Amino acid sequence: KIYPVILSGGAGTRLWPLSRAALPKQLLPLVSEQTMLQETALRLAGRPGVMAPLVVCGNEHRFLVAEQMREIGIEPLGILLEPVGRNTAPAVAVAAHYLIATDPDALMLVLPADHVIKNVDAFYAAVEQAAVLAAEGKLATFGIVPTGPETGYGYIQSGKAIAGGANGYAVDRFVEKPDLETAKGFVAAGNFFWNSGMFLFRAERYLAELKEFQPAMAAACDAAIKGDYRDLDFCRLDEAAFASAPSDSIDYAVMEHTRDAVVVPADIGWNDVGSWSALHEVQTADAQGNVARGDVYLDNVSGSLVRAESRIVAVVGVQDLVVVETNDAVLVAHKDQVQRVKQIVDHLKTQG
Ligand code: GDD
Ligand code: MG
Repeated sequence: KIYPVILSGGAGTRLWPLSRAALPKQLLPLVSEQTMLQETALRLAGRPGVMAPLVVCGNEHRFLVAEQMREIGIEPLGILLEPVGRNTAPAVAVAAHYLIATDPDALMLVLPADHVIKNVDAFYAAVEQAAVLAAEGKLATFGIVPTGPETGYGYIQSGKAIAGGANGYAVDRFVEKPDLETAKGFVAAGNFFWNSGMFLFRAERYLAELKEFQPAMAAACDAAIKGDYRDLDFCRLDEAAFASAPSDSIDYAVMEHTRDAVVVPADIGWNDVGSWSALHEVQTADAQGNVARGDVYLDNVSGSLVRAESRIVAVVGVQDLVVVETNDAVLVAHKDQVQRVKQIVDHLKTQG
């Protein structure tokens, strides 16, 4: 049985000013009428072997998450609340404990809450392949063919094809967020995939790897989910124990170290919608290459993303811009420089 574990704890700062701490991108309807979290939960719902999802999110988002699940008629297996964010490695660990208590053989499908996947059938086929390997004790990743030397992704060097007919390769090396020179080398080498950020493994295998490579984190997560943690609607963690876990991502903490990783190629129309330009790409543009949302007036504009939340936004005679209006902040940026939006948020934080 495959249990989707939806990680819904990130801040999505590169989509400021729409994505905020109180309402981060996964809880917003960015690409369609549904929020990214809702799309994630619906994507594999009802497929053979796929159970109800477990959502892991920050305590402050519990009511929004519960409400969004209700809206789409999905009853989650549980909503696991983090008292503090400790990045993805601990989040996956407490989810693993939760699942093992329900089903000792649980296969967990770790899913970021904020990705677009256009080809859902191909995605499900890849999950089925990965499930075979995961059942054998492998830690399966889903590999995306790189289109450039992006430094915001993990890179997976594929090795020998897996014997026995499954469409997968042994992982020779997993390198999280390399620098630009290294990334260029990887792309040129040709035998590297991007890591999609989704994983499939036996819950118990993940905990064993965590114990080996990050014993302090494993112990803290162990302690955080013992005792009486379930109430009617939510599952709460022991705050002191969970807060004592070192903060790190699954990529650095486990995937770079494990010897049992495999990669399943995933030609699935994947996009992690990490920036305004990515959001522009995944939406259908008009004949001028514009994507407009809300009360927007465009004249002689091309290649631009314009989004109005609370006022009329008129744009005239420009190209390749991102214009995002909200009721308390406005972003105007060139499409090629939207990675720098993150710095705005850092700047605003230091201003208090
Ligand atoms: N519950 C929970 N708690 N979720 C979290 C936390 C946390 O503390 N931190 C992040 N998340 C969620 C985010 O909301 C997102 O859905 C997912 O976990 C991944 O976190 P990101 O912070 O977005 O990771 P990344 O984009 O830098 O890198 C990962 O994804 C890339 C592909 O998009 C890595 O797996 C890379 O290797 C990969 O290429
Ligand atoms: Mg991400």
